[in-house]
Amino acid sequence: MGEIIGGLLAPHPPHIVYGENHWRNEPRSECGWEVLRWGYERARKHFLAKKPDVLLVHSPHWQTVIGHHFLGIPEFHGLSVDPIFPNLFRYKYDIKVDVELAEMIAEEGREMGLITKMMRNPHFRVDYGTIVSCHMMNPEWDIPIVGISSNNSPYYFSNEMGQAQMIQLGQATRRAIEKSGRRAVLLASNTLSHRHFTTEPEIPEDMSREHVYEHSGYLWDMKVIDLMRTGRTRELISILPEFMDHAVSEVKAGSLAWMLSALDFPDYPGELYGYWTVIGTGNAVVGWDCELRGAATTQG
Ligand SMILES: [Fe+2]
Repeated sequence: MGEIIGGLLAPHPPHIVYGENHWRNEPRSECGWEVLRWGYERARKHFLAKKPDVLLVHSPHWQTVIGHHFLGIPEFHGLSVDPIFPNLFRYKYDIKVDVELAEMIAEEGREMGLITKMMRNPHFRVDYGTIVSCHMMNPEWDIPIVGISSNNSPYYFSNEMGQAQMIQLGQATRRAIEKSGRRAVLLASNTLSHRHFTTEPEIPEDMSREHVYEHSGYLWDMKVIDLMRTGRTRELISILPEFMDHAVSEVKAGSLAWMLSALDFPDYPGELYGYWTVIGTGNAVVGWDCELRGAATTQG
């Protein structure tokens, strides 16, 4: 029987790939956003050591109006250019997909009453949310992924309706992984508070200009991180709709709800690997590993 061996809140600002100066990304930087990049490095060491067969990623920047879509061919190649930050992110990608597992999740979802669809277009341009979260977790790209779109229902129906869909999608994901025999790590590609600056410094990586955008968003971030670090994810899920409205949080896209549901709402602490702002938005790298149930290190 397969299992989910870990789950990560894995935010995707393109700035952190820019700060890495990886050969796949064209623009060069001097430095930048180290606390998040070092946090990802520690998370990567921990979860890749567990030898996952597949990484699953749910991304807010692949929005689908009808239903939940899945990358559905074995390989995607191309150049991903961030529409807002083309000066920071022009990334050559070469992605291997676990199509069999993706199809199994789509099938489980359909049986539960969700609308699901496979993306079979070989020229489909994979979004930067999927790419940044996967790159930061595994820059070698030697583990196949399952890429999942974010259904638009919270944006033109309601936060609660959208979240209910994501909880179902998480259940379908867990069942399919168990049937597949895979050892899987899940990536929820979400920023926390999401109000941000609208002008960029002359040097984008000038960290003297990087700080929290507003105190109320920061307080919200500290509240939700506290719930994560103390294993109160059911309480967390119940306040996410309010967080979406008050801090325009990107969790509205559903990635975090999907992952917490697939993990069956952990009652053990998440490990905080790093928190910092990117253009004023709150970003946390947090990992859940059920083997660390009794020994999460950040709780004192
Ligand atoms: Fe985003």
